[in-house]
Amino acid sequence: MKGIILAGGSGSRLYPITISVSKQLLPVYDKPMIYYPLSVLMLAGIREILFITTPQDQKAFQKLLGNGADLGCNFEYAIQDEPKGLAEAFTIGEEFIGKEKVALILGDNIFYGNGFGNLLRSKVDVDGASIFAYPVKDPERYGVVEFDDNKKVKSIEEKPKVPKSKYAIPGLYFYDNKVVEYAKQVKPSARGEKEISTINQMYMEAGKLEVGVMTRGMSWFDTGTVESLDDATEFIRVLQNRQSTLIGCIEEVALIHKFIGKDKLESAIDKYEKSKYGDYLRNLLA
Ligand code: DAU
Repeated sequence: MKGIILAGGSGSRLYPITISVSKQLLPVYDKPMIYYPLSVLMLAGIREILFITTPQDQKAFQKLLGNGADLGCNFEYAIQDEPKGLAEAFTIGEEFIGKEKVALILGDNIFYGNGFGNLLRSKVDVDGASIFAYPVKDPERYGVVEFDDNKKVKSIEEKPKVPKSKYAIPGLYFYDNKVVEYAKQVKPSARGEKEISTINQMYMEAGKLEVGVMTRGMSWFDTGTVESLDDATEFIRVLQNRQSTLIGCIEEVALIHKFIGKDKLESAIDKYEKSKYGDYLRNLLA
């Protein structure tokens, strides 16, 4: 399975912070935001990853993450000229995806929870589409999924004014190769974006959409507003300091999943120099 991280967009809800800096490179406590979604794809065992960014931000992402070899991965980069919607990930990424299945994660979504790695790895052989539902108090901000009495998916709506359920759809999606064809058929919505929810509706109508409800053991943050970014930072700070482990440490995931050996971990330690992140990797090596 291939992976795409969508890290474009204008980040306008975070202005002035994001006028000259990509949202997905902002710090979430002690590391750039992009480390978190990247670690999620790597946890799923995905090593071939495409980063889609704005034209002006591409260089900064390449400086941070390179070609992925340091992590035993293969990273490619593509540009989205304008933020015309999430569904464009699969048309921009068509060549990269080729004949494979593909996972998409939004560059501003952060996940953490017990058993999450196993859950992710159970999705990589998806037949159709596999997405998640997460109960929130403000579903109107998100894609919303409604279930019938038999827990079957009844409807999918993007940012409905009157949500039919409390279940938001987090920005993590697993698709078979048909997604490329579906993405080409998506027409812009009333707000002028090619919506990922339209793709999910297409899979639903074909009877090929699976929705897994994330239970209370899972934490999900989308860091699109100042408040949610601050919440995510606080969450990571408290948990990391209490448990003395890092969340979203890409080198640790690479080591545990045997994408890299100790030699590459040693090079990473040099890269992070005297930072606490570097110290953590030094401890891992020991
Ligand atoms: O966070 C989950 C939600 O993400 C889903 O529940 C919604 O169904 C989905 O539409 C999306 O809603 P948002 O309003 O949060 O999307 P936003 O415009 O904030 O974009 C999400 C990320 O994708 C963000 O990191 C910017 C990036 N992006 C966005 C657009 C529209 C792009 O790279 N290109 C784009 O064209």
